[in-house]
Amino acid sequence: MSPSADLLLDWYDRHARRLPWRVGPAERRAGIRPDPYRVWLSEVMLQQTTVTAVKPYFEAFLSLWPTVADLAAAPVEDVMKAWAGLGYYSRARNLKACADAVMRDHGGRFPGSAAALRDLPGIGDYTAAAIAAIAYDEPAAVVDGNVERVLARVFKVETPLPAAKKEIRVLQARLTPAKRAGDYAQAMMDLGATICTPKRPACSLCPWDQSCAAHASGVEEAYPRRGEK
Ligand code: ADE
Repeated sequence: MSPSADLLLDWYDRHARRLPWRVGPAERRAGIRPDPYRVWLSEVMLQQTTVTAVKPYFEAFLSLWPTVADLAAAPVEDVMKAWAGLGYYSRARNLKACADAVMRDHGGRFPGSAAALRDLPGIGDYTAAAIAAIAYDEPAAVVDGNVERVLARVFKVETPLPAAKKEIRVLQARLTPAKRAGDYAQAMMDLGATICTPKRPACSLCPWDQSCAAHASGVEEAYPRRGEK
């Protein structure tokens, strides 16, 4: 049985993590849309940092600068100071540059497509796709480390990472549904973070257990394949 987005979305409806930047599936159904500024801020913070570490910084940034206009108006030194401890400080510099660009070039509104978001400072392929999917429900293929692990297992991708990235992106593009693309992307992240973990995955709780080639032969932990060290 091939993996179905609907099965994953049903699972997400029941098990979505509550995260400070997230508009949950029930709220989305009620018509609440995510604020692109919050989605962007969280995705940049989460690029190289864990959910647990990001939470207090996300809350602090939102209190200091509730909108992209507020952040653009702040001195870069203040932004760097608020970022202290999160690491990878080029992200903070780019954050400020991106806020400035949104104000200067886009009238204070984040561009509405992955392609246009990609042109902003500090926004690469992953972040552009994640913002477009989560904020605008664009069916962009969102692939992070969690998604790579899930799909490498489901399809028993034999190409080692990082060479397999392109192949996995194609699989994700094929699986991403036309509707609820934002929930789907976040469901994949949650599945990878809470069920399809690197060690001892909880396959008995997985909505895709019947579709997973690695699980069918009991070799989950052997995927994703890794290149020779
Ligand atoms: N990691 C990166 N982006 C995330 C998100 N939106 N939710 C949970 N974990 C993430």
